[in-house]
Amino acid sequence: MKGIIVAAGYGTRFLPVTKTIPKEMLPVGTRPSIAFIVDEFVASGITEIAIITSRRKKMLDDYFDREIELEEIFRREGRPDKLALIAPPKAVITFIRQTEMRGTGHALLQVKGFAGDEPCVVAYPDDLHVGTTPLAAQLAAVHARTGKTVMATIHESGDVSRYGVVDPAADGVSVKGFVEKPAPGSEPSHEVSIGRYLYTPEFFALLAEGWAKHVQGEYFHTYALDHLIAAGKVAYCRTEGERLDTGEPGGYLEAILRNAAADPALRPVLERFAREQLGLHR
Ligand code: G1P
Repeated sequence: MKGIIVAAGYGTRFLPVTKTIPKEMLPVGTRPSIAFIVDEFVASGITEIAIITSRRKKMLDDYFDREIELEEIFRREGRPDKLALIAPPKAVITFIRQTEMRGTGHALLQVKGFAGDEPCVVAYPDDLHVGTTPLAAQLAAVHARTGKTVMATIHESGDVSRYGVVDPAADGVSVKGFVEKPAPGSEPSHEVSIGRYLYTPEFFALLAEGWAKHVQGEYFHTYALDHLIAAGKVAYCRTEGERLDTGEPGGYLEAILRNAAADPALRPVLERFAREQLGLHR
């Protein structure tokens, strides 16, 4: 199985910093957020990864390359701890550019050749997963069981109008319908897509078919997904663990705080801040 990360977007919710720094490079602790997705892929056994970028995202290529000069210094100094920090991931990473911003469907068309005849897990770099089984591995397990395209979901008890919402079939795994951003009250369920998918090769074939008919404006992946759902070829996977949406400043802050809480060197800072600035006491 292969992995794809869609990282060509402008990142306008993080302007002005994203004028020059790709949103995917914003750090959670000392690591860029995209590194967490790559780790999750590698932990799921995925070793071939394509990152869809754009001409504004050159920094991503450099980040995943080796840093020979520093490697030499750390080797000379006998610092395996620092060498480990800059080691590239144990995966072959390919960068494919989307040369014009024409929507996520168009972005995914750029990796049709990369996907070939294998299923691929597609991630948007905003969604970080925290849990015992890596999310890509959870999707792969549902695919192995059903042979279908798989959407990762969570149960959202509140307002779901900012999500794509699944209409689940009675078997507890198949998707019989899907509504993107339903008006409040018209949602088919509270099972919402978290924008993480495992796509079969048929998805990419349908994507190309839809693109051939597309006239103007942005092109989304919904054409292909709707066709697969109508043919009964989509399943959903209720995500075990938690999802952090770093695509907006509040979710990004939460990711930073959680990371700090789990780091013995940073936790005391967080605790002092909670006590002194927020007046929180145990
Ligand atoms: C995308 C998907 C939507 C999904 C959401 C999760 O929407 O189209 O189905 O529920 O991600 O964040 P976006 O947030 O990009 O508008």
